[in-house]
Amino acid sequence: MISSQHLLIVLYTACGSVVEGEAATKSRVKGGQDQVPIAQNVTVVEGSTANMTCRVEHNDNTSLQWSNPAQQTLFFGDKKALRDNRIKLVRASWKELTISISEVALSDEGQYTCSLFTMPVKTAKAFLTVLGVPDKPEITGVAEPATEGDQVTLTCLTSGSKPAAEIRWFRNDKEVEGIREVNAMGRSFMVRSTLQFQVDRSDDGVAYTCTVDHVSLSTVPQQVTEVLQVHYAPHVEIMHSLLFPQEGQYFKLECVSKGNPLPEPVTWTKDGGDLPDEERMIVEGTELIITTLNKTDNGTYRCNAQNFLGMDYGEYKLYVYDPNVIAQHGPDHGLIGGVVAVVVFITLCFIIVLGRYLARHKGTYLTNEAKGAEDAPDADTAIINAEGNHAHAEEKKEYYQEAARNVVHLKSENLGFANNYTLREEYVSCIHVLDVHHI
Ligand SMILES: *[C@@H]1O[C@H](CO)[C@@H](O)[C@H](O)[C@H]1NC(C)=O
Ligand SMILES: *[C@@H]1O[C@H](CO)[C@@H](O)[C@H](O)[C@H]1NC(C)=O
Ligand SMILES: *[C@@H]1O[C@H](CO)[C@@H](O)[C@H](O)[C@H]1NC(C)=O
Ligand SMILES: *[C@@H]1O[C@H](CO)[C@@H](O)[C@H](O)[C@H]1NC(C)=O
Ligand SMILES: *[C@@H]1O[C@H](CO)[C@@H](O)[C@H](O)[C@H]1NC(C)=O
Repeated sequence: MISSQHLLIVLYTACGSVVEGEAATKSRVKGGQDQVPIAQNVTVVEGSTANMTCRVEHNDNTSLQWSNPAQQTLFFGDKKALRDNRIKLVRASWKELTISISEVALSDEGQYTCSLFTMPVKTAKAFLTVLGVPDKPEITGVAEPATEGDQVTLTCLTSGSKPAAEIRWFRNDKEVEGIREVNAMGRSFMVRSTLQFQVDRSDDGVAYTCTVDHVSLSTVPQQVTEVLQVHYAPHVEIMHSLLFPQEGQYFKLECVSKGNPLPEPVTWTKDGGDLPDEERMIVEGTELIITTLNKTDNGTYRCNAQNFLGMDYGEYKLYVYDPNVIAQHGPDHGLIGGVVAVVVFITLCFIIVLGRYLARHKGTYLTNEAKGAEDAPDADTAIINAEGNHAHAEEKKEYYQEAARNVVHLKSENLGFANNYTLREEYVSCIHVLDVHHI
């Protein structure tokens, strides 16, 4: 017993001294650690100013020094060591040495060293990262107008970025995917992105925008826009001013031609020959005006449009109606009225059915309380069941008022209509009412 107690005491003492020893070592190391320089990495955009700061928590008046990646001393305490007007002293004390490098160039990038001249010398490393600003991008490949069917390559190029910039393409504000290629140019990068496609007339006048995104461009990206020009052969259509031209009326045909270059002037012919009556038939720009129609003006009028890529023509067969005949055989107003009535009826059917449907869905919570609702499989059936029990006129009135209100939501609810079987059936039966009345 005594021997074991003794052993414990011995062990305890031994442990205690070990702990004490460790603590002593720690405090000694701690005192030394405080006299250590601390510097932080710095990232700046080229052309701006970089501040390099080195700090020491506790210092016994030992000197601090900054040196560049080439190991040249820049400042030793407050004393300038390198002839470079861009490098200036910001603050020098026993606790801090801060210098600034203005108009930073990509070549300034690298590891800078802060040294504290204790024995032995202690150092801190700080990496200066310089961001290269991308140049304004340029688009090539749009200088010459393309011809419909051509394979066109648009290239957007920007150099000077570091790290390599991102390029995005937009075709009239809609993003399109380009092929990116990056080449190192010294310390910066040349980035190019190409778009290759076959052009058609729909590409004529389309704006292609190239934007450059980069960390150094904190606000808006750099961008440039070019408008693509595509040459294409003419396409002609003739518009006429009257549906039933009658003798004695003023009549106008317009030759609507598209094409690049724009085919101008256009030429008019009648039945393959020149216009027969220059007094009554006047050509003004793309229009052919017949001041007073005559039966003899019957015939085929053709407008020809041509550019260096080709030609096209449009034709209009003129039939000059006799005003007296039109009165007898003109469009049947009774028939037109009938058609309008049918269209209106169908529209009303649609609106009412849709309204009922919407009202039903709105009234689900109220009608669910009605008898027969509990064992209904869904809301629709529940309402149908409930309807059978309470066929009050008042309710129905409210029903249709609600329906009318819900027509306002017609647009947003349109989608549901196609998928709702009950609704479709109601619509069909409504249309049937029309058929019965019609026959
Ligand atoms: C560099 O330090 C100077 C002086 O403290 C200060 O005016 C300037 O804004 C600092 N520049 C940067 C980029 O931190
Ligand atoms: C540091 O130097 C200053 C004078 O420049 C002196 O007053 C101070 O006592 C010195 N401190 C140490 C810790 O040597
Ligand atoms: C400082 O930059 C260097 C080089 O980029 C890197 O290796 C290091 O981890 C950075 N240090 C800190 C504290 O960010
Ligand atoms: C139509 O032309 C003929 C011959 O040019 C002429 O005699 C006739 O009066 C014209 N009719 C009208 C309605 O102008
Ligand atoms: C005009 O053409 C229509 C049919 O194309 C024909 O019935 C009518 O007789 C023609 N009138 C004259 C004056 O040629």
